[in-house]
Amino acid sequence: MNHITCCSKITWMEHNQLHIGDVKIESPVFLAPMAGVTDYSFRILCKEQGAGVVYSEFVSAHGIIRENVKTLNMIRFGASERPIGIQIFGDNPEVMAAAAQYVVEKFDPDILDINYGCPVPKVTRKGAGSAALRNLDLMEEITAAVVTAIPGTPVTVKMRAGWDSKSIVIPEAGVRLEKTGVKAITLHPRTTKQTYRKQADWSLIKLLKESVSIPVIGNGDVIQPRDALRMFAETGCDAVMIGRAALGNPWFFRDVMALLKGQPLPPPPSLRGKISACQRQRHLELLIESHGEKTGINLMRKHFGWYLKGFPGAASIRKRLVTAVNLDAIKEELDSLKHGNVISVGA
Ligand SMILES: Cc1cc2nc3c(=O)[nH]c(=O)nc-3n(C[C@H](O)[C@H](O)[C@H](O)COP(=O)(O)O)c2cc1C
Repeated sequence: MNHITCCSKITWMEHNQLHIGDVKIESPVFLAPMAGVTDYSFRILCKEQGAGVVYSEFVSAHGIIRENVKTLNMIRFGASERPIGIQIFGDNPEVMAAAAQYVVEKFDPDILDINYGCPVPKVTRKGAGSAALRNLDLMEEITAAVVTAIPGTPVTVKMRAGWDSKSIVIPEAGVRLEKTGVKAITLHPRTTKQTYRKQADWSLIKLLKESVSIPVIGNGDVIQPRDALRMFAETGCDAVMIGRAALGNPWFFRDVMALLKGQPLPPPPSLRGKISACQRQRHLELLIESHGEKTGINLMRKHFGWYLKGFPGAASIRKRLVTAVNLDAIKEELDSLKHGNVISVGA
């Protein structure tokens, strides 16, 4: 099932919408799970701009079953975020199954996603994340245990293409995962060893799509809104997942959806619009609401850098925001920017 036609005009065919299991998806542009980024505040902003599914950052299965408070806080979400996927990672089928069951009973997400993509040594050394790409039997065992443990919730998988260029597991892993009952697969077609180097190899997304009948979500190197259309057209994928391009730019979802509907690209947000998003409309406010003032401000510092990237004087603005001592100082700084005291370009 391919929802996108690529001819003179590319359209998202409203009558032929995507389902993951029995979850109806309104938009085929998803927000990628990103540790330290895709918490409640950022997910809400992306959802409001048209993200079809948003994902939590990856959450440790061991932390979940130990009921670690910090871990459980990463799972909490609001009704307006639905459909939402909670992503878990781990190395042990029983622990993963118990964690999935816990998440479903306590939080009831629309989708439970398994991480087979994380390349970070701290995670792979323990056999979790993309380490599963080196042991497809274990990958299958973990996945089957999770699918069996939560029969009422669609289980999906997000994976890389293999451990290294000599051990690409596409399409075999996809075929095996589909047999276990997985309802969709997201592929970031780089290897673990590659981390983020070189281009993502979209031909592997196409190969996976041709090898399974469940939806395939393409991910990797969608940098400009038009890249999403190219990914649909070149790979036949059912949805695209956006990671880094959304940092400081939740409007990316609006832009891709406009193109998919055959509309012109909306004008880019002005500096003033971006500052409003930071402040009143309302990334910072949401972060403070969910994490408290001190942590909320600390978490916001990296977002300031992303939001203000590319504007003249951005480096000095960032510096002032990052060193602002408290919420009042940050608000003062943002107000001053917004009213054009420092720069007026783009406002
Ligand atoms: C800061 C950051 C954190 C990430 N954390 C996760 C994660 O928790 N789970 C996951 O599956 N992928 C994670 N990723 C990978 C992204 O989901 C995505 O696969 C990758 O960035 C490629 O997509 P992009 O080119 O659109 O950024 C992370 C990426 C970034 C940049």
